[in-house]
Amino acid sequence: MNLIMLGPPGAGKGTQAQRLTQTLNMVQLSTGDMLREAMANETEIGKQAKPIYDRGELVSDEIIVDLISERLDTLDRDQGFILDGVPRNAAQADAVDKMLSEKGLTLDFVIELDVDDDQLVARVTGRYTCAKCGTGYHDTFQKPAVDGVCDTCGGTEFKRRSDDNEDALRARLAVYHEKTAPLRAYYGDKGILHKIDGMAAVEAVSGALDDILGAS
Ligand code: AP5
Repeated sequence: MNLIMLGPPGAGKGTQAQRLTQTLNMVQLSTGDMLREAMANETEIGKQAKPIYDRGELVSDEIIVDLISERLDTLDRDQGFILDGVPRNAAQADAVDKMLSEKGLTLDFVIELDVDDDQLVARVTGRYTCAKCGTGYHDTFQKPAVDGVCDTCGGTEFKRRSDDNEDALRARLAVYHEKTAPLRAYYGDKGILHKIDGMAAVEAVSGALDDILGAS
């Protein structure tokens, strides 16, 4: 089973994708994570992407398509994958379709998480992750069981993203509404789009997602 998580910044795409890696043994292919890794390692792609990323704009389609294509080639065919953060515009949607068909892969579900813009600001500005294993948390909505200790790996160091400030978020939201949201119609026409109320609590969103995937 292969799927796309669609939704604005902070909608919960990564939270749900990360959960599915554990509950359904799926592989999360997050273009944001790939770019953050490239920036941390100061690779050529990372250096090129950094200023664009920090402004909350989209990096070039060419970079994204290459990143995804390389990762798809390394996948175990028995494992399903989750495209998290891609496609983000019509050109990327076309490229993903073409790439999947060339590689003999199919797309089963596109999951749209619907969340109001004001709620997204609260979510993104409170987000942090474990520096060791990447598990995601939130100052208010998703705290670790023991304050300051990662539930997954016991790590005690956490980090915040350079684009998780209000200015960059407003830019990311504008890009989402202009370029990514129209993809709803594209996948709706293919009959594989499923919308979930992303304003609900994490557990409720997880339940709705599992119902759609037939995993409950
Ligand atoms: P990317 O890393 O993909 O970020 P994004 O799409 O802006 O999405 P986020 O990661 O911010 O949010 P999310 O939906 O995963 O939410 P999360 O689960 O963390 O992209 C970053 C940048 O990289 C882009 O701006 C662009 O520059 C570049 N880029 C990436 N892909 C690209 C592409 N394809 N093309 C071009 N450029 C690209 O949740 C957020 C917080 O809310 C967390 O703290 C979480 O704990 C909490 N939370 C989650 N669900 C709930 C809930 N139901 N209730 C309450 N709190 C919740």
